[in-house]
Amino acid sequence: MSQLKIAALAGDGIGPEVMREALNVLRTAARKFNLDLAITEAPVGWAGIDAAGQALPDATLSLCRASDAILFGSVGLPDRDPTIPKEQRPERAALLRLRKEFSLFANLRPVQLPKALAHACPLRPERQGNGLDLLVVRELTGGMYFGQPKKTEDLGNGQQRATDTMVYTTAEIERIAHVAFQSARLRRKKLTSIDKANVLENGILWREVVTRIGKQYADVSLEHMFVDNAAMQLMLRPTQFDVVLCENMFGDILSDEAAALAGSLGMLPSASLGNTTGDKTFGLFEPAGGTAPDIAGKDLANPIAQILSSAMMMTYSFGRADVGAAIEGAVQRAIQQGLRTGDIYSAEDASARRVGTKEMGAAIAAAV
Ligand code: IPM
Ligand code: MG
Repeated sequence: MSQLKIAALAGDGIGPEVMREALNVLRTAARKFNLDLAITEAPVGWAGIDAAGQALPDATLSLCRASDAILFGSVGLPDRDPTIPKEQRPERAALLRLRKEFSLFANLRPVQLPKALAHACPLRPERQGNGLDLLVVRELTGGMYFGQPKKTEDLGNGQQRATDTMVYTTAEIERIAHVAFQSARLRRKKLTSIDKANVLENGILWREVVTRIGKQYADVSLEHMFVDNAAMQLMLRPTQFDVVLCENMFGDILSDEAAALAGSLGMLPSASLGNTTGDKTFGLFEPAGGTAPDIAGKDLANPIAQILSSAMMMTYSFGRADVGAAIEGAVQRAIQQGLRTGDIYSAEDASARRVGTKEMGAAIAAAV
């Protein structure tokens, strides 16, 4: 296989320390599988503002363009400089910009609750079945996040009016629906498509298009669910879900809700996929959680979400599901050995041992 060029953008808060562990795991996997990895690190977020005056410095963007995939940490520090204009803040200027710039329209957010971590789940044990395992497929470049007009106007009488616009075209729904059906095929072959077709024009079109695309996937069972009901069902009976397909905003909300079921954001990776050229699919891979400034730099953060994000990169961007599975297996072994960062530690579990970011990362690298 040709050289795999990876842009590693650690960002802010716990980003750098969990990235360090993920890169160590990747380099270990590269030696084992004989991969030619070219990893280049660059600043993003507040780190980008500090280094080059921009949340997404030009040099970082050029590096991303020259790479096959982006391994992303996390950006945004809520307490830093509230006076900086909203367009320049890391969330918009770095993350949303990268999504748009590289047409990263398909966001995959797997949520798994391993049996060994059942205590971390806020639901009663009888609602957890044999452990939870679902995948949220979120459309990422359409809907209210990017629809025009998007503006705040002064109405002159001391009033303002804020407008965000929810827009979807047939083609945008079709391409994300294909990703969702294909993902369901690789899993338990059940797809729940989320909409608000009882109120929104967007919801009606969404349901029509997903139903039509579903005819090409007769082996996948499709059901439709209103978003409010889905929010409730996730709490009441999460085991009914396999793949959950959502538009951008609904997916933002439901994926956080689903993530809560896994007990800790520190365990959950994500993939944001764009277009495929040859045998590579451009993608950005990042932990589901944020910068966690309160625990940054203290060797407390759970590196697993970042490490599993690098596994998703191997599987989805580079077509190396074998390498991805090896990294995932190594994470499972570290959990089986009883290693726990603070977010997944329970004193009631006698076989558990509380460890820091570095020790967890090193144990996973060793298991690879
Ligand atoms: C996410 C985050 C982002 C989003 C924010 C940080 C812009 O919540 O990735 O889910 O809303 O998409
Ligand atoms: Mg979110």
